[in-house]
Amino acid sequence: MTTQTEPDERRAVLLIAKSAFAAAPHADMARIAGVTAEHRPDAVVRYAFTEQGTPSLKDALLALVGEGCSHVSIVPLVLPMEPGFQTWLQKVIRRWRNEDHRPWPEIAVTRHIAASPVMAALLEDLVASATSLDLAVDQKSLAEGSLVPDQKRRVLVCQGGPCNAAGADALWCHLRNEQQRLKLRTTGDGTMTAKSTCLGPCNLAPVLQVFPEGTYYGGVTEAAIDRIITEHLLGGRVVQDFAYEPTGRKQRLRIVAEQSPSTGE
Ligand code: FES
Repeated sequence: MTTQTEPDERRAVLLIAKSAFAAAPHADMARIAGVTAEHRPDAVVRYAFTEQGTPSLKDALLALVGEGCSHVSIVPLVLPMEPGFQTWLQKVIRRWRNEDHRPWPEIAVTRHIAASPVMAALLEDLVASATSLDLAVDQKSLAEGSLVPDQKRRVLVCQGGPCNAAGADALWCHLRNEQQRLKLRTTGDGTMTAKSTCLGPCNLAPVLQVFPEGTYYGGVTEAAIDRIITEHLLGGRVVQDFAYEPTGRKQRLRIVAEQSPSTGE
């Protein structure tokens, strides 16, 4: 299907998936983007990942802003979709737009993939394509065993409700991509990363915790993660601007307290 495009309009379609750890899923996304481009020759078609994989949603979106796109349609290829997905998307994009003062395109999000009227036909095709799995026990991997990692550092990224609503998924994506880019597993003391359930101080969302010190960081952004990597994980110094000590008293986000000491908004 094609649509008429005004001369000064530059439309984009941004396909988003959760994660890609290897080359094959990247190739899958590139293929789906190619098919989309064939059907939408009026639009630039890109893809991105929200949890891990390059480009991240933020990088892909900022690239489209830089290209002067007037409209971006985001297509979440995500199943199942969390109930708060759209709210999360709106919040993180709003934050990125507030940090970037270039003119931004109009951004729209398509309907949930499961709500598409062609879902039944797609499922019928998929069911017809089923092939048998080999279920024989893999004796080779049982015999090989596993190495116990010797990394000393671990970063827990909270994925509880308030942290996710504050953009924790996008932060996880940024941290994992930087972990891979900077080879953090084998640099310095070695850093492992993991998602966690609620870490406790929900009103400081998004929250992460760095071990072995157990340092809590609140109000974390992508820029804060860059500093935590350089100064804490690699330099051994806590980043005080984002760190919160256990004081025995309730604490508010310092940036919020600085902006509005009376209301906390
Ligand atoms: S949800 Fe993240 S600290 Fe509670």
